[in-house]
Amino acid sequence: MALPTINPTTTKAWEALISHYENIKNVHLKDLFKQNPDRAQTFSTVWNDFYIDYSKNRIDQTTKTLLLDLAKEVKLEDAIQHYFSGSSINETEERAVLHTALRAPSNKNILVADKNVVPEVTAVKEKIKQFTDQVISGSLTGYTGKAFTDIVNIGIGGSDLGPAMITESLEFYKNHLKLHFISNVDGDHVHQNLKNLDPETTLFVVVSKTFSTQETLSNATTARNWFTDKAPKTEVGKHFVAVSSNIPNVTAFGIEEENIFPLWDWVGGRFSLWSAVGLSISLSVGYENFEALLEGAHEMDEHFKTAPFEDNIPVLLGMLSIWYNNFFKAESEAIIPYSQYLHRLPAYLQQGIMESNGKSVDRSGNKINYQTGTIIWGEPGTNAQHAFFQLIHQGTKIIPAEFIGFKKSLFNDQDHQDKLMANFFAQTEALMNGKTEAEVQEELKSKNLSAQKLKQLVPFKIFEGNKPTTTVLIEKLTPKNLGALVSMYEQRIFVQGVVWNIFSYDQWGVELGKQLATKILNEINDTTISEHDSSTKTLLKQYLN
Ligand code: F6P
Repeated sequence: MALPTINPTTTKAWEALISHYENIKNVHLKDLFKQNPDRAQTFSTVWNDFYIDYSKNRIDQTTKTLLLDLAKEVKLEDAIQHYFSGSSINETEERAVLHTALRAPSNKNILVADKNVVPEVTAVKEKIKQFTDQVISGSLTGYTGKAFTDIVNIGIGGSDLGPAMITESLEFYKNHLKLHFISNVDGDHVHQNLKNLDPETTLFVVVSKTFSTQETLSNATTARNWFTDKAPKTEVGKHFVAVSSNIPNVTAFGIEEENIFPLWDWVGGRFSLWSAVGLSISLSVGYENFEALLEGAHEMDEHFKTAPFEDNIPVLLGMLSIWYNNFFKAESEAIIPYSQYLHRLPAYLQQGIMESNGKSVDRSGNKINYQTGTIIWGEPGTNAQHAFFQLIHQGTKIIPAEFIGFKKSLFNDQDHQDKLMANFFAQTEALMNGKTEAEVQEELKSKNLSAQKLKQLVPFKIFEGNKPTTTVLIEKLTPKNLGALVSMYEQRIFVQGVVWNIFSYDQWGVELGKQLATKILNEINDTTISEHDSSTKTLLKQYLN
């Protein structure tokens, strides 16, 4: 069964949103708050440990109704059914999209081509658990009998960003094992990481769904050579395991079948951290924490599947993003976690969001005439405040921003936590209210400035405000809440892809560069430059000289 193919711009709701936008585009958030004293209650939702406040967005009740009408008109409800039930919604690759099955309870029945996939998922989880326990306890050792001390994850894209982001986010929960991530084909990256490692106590986890990715195979080969330079060749099997769906390629590389953790074609790379791709996560924080991560994601999946659209967090956030992208013509969105642990979250979401929804052909194969694919960027607060917040506050662009914060800190340093959260709340308030000319005048009065200086300064000190933000306030950074947070974004990607009538689960756009790089590498190896534009040709000559 295929997803519906409805051009969103042909819906009644889209047309209504265009004219509604004209009514609301100049309305100030401050006035919306004055008009409705209960606005915070009207536009917020509570779910488990999450409180989502979307009241500081440039919407009113009509906006919300129309956005949800749009979701209904493009048949989002049907699409959700297809997605969770294992239909081949990744049509261009003829695959189901079932990362949700990876975190479903073991008694579920989820069919792909008439076969229940849950037993296989459960078996791989058991393998992850056993392996994790053995490595952490030291009962599984390297070739000289010493316990492992260092884990090196070799992978790129979804085979790196997910495990890297989660292990850094859960650093508080980690054990004695030291984690290293090698992704870039830049040789300095792999050699820098290998430099201080001890082959006797290092375990390599080579993660590649296809096991054909140039970067990963090059890095894995370099790591294996490094190992066999120092240790007997016959011991590779004790120090290299793989996560892949391409068993023949892995065994050809020299990793034994029993050391392969499989995954399936219905798990997309950027949605794979819940599979054996998350082996490094499990090794780093223990299997129980890995399972708690999955449990949190599953609870969010259930919320997404069953909650009415009015209170459905991924639906609301996805539709808000569409509101800014397609009606306000916002060029980008910022994601600002107020937690240093989450410093890799924006980079992780860049792949999730931009590789999924950066498409310009619709589900019928036609060129699209509206904007898709939001541009995501961000850094943790408060650091971000001292870097790019100037532009959000006083620049010319509208940048909807999501603020993610936790009520409790992990080390319980209340002084720091209060300062952090004071900034967290202050920023969304400041972005909304801004500062008027009268307020600036009043503030400058006490400074004893000359009338001329005062007049000169005023325009620079005015903040227009009316900058939209959404606040995601979570009880505490736990594995379970982190799982729910990541799932929230995954489901939001789905919502936006359905509305934009695009295929969110393929990534043909990364192919062209790969093909050209292979051709150019051959030319570099042969030192013969073939036909290129004059720019590329000259650059290659410069390099070869
Ligand atoms: O860059 C494209 C991509 O296919 C990503 O989608 C994926 O996460 C990454 O490459 C790595 O792929 P693999 O796990 O097959 O090595």
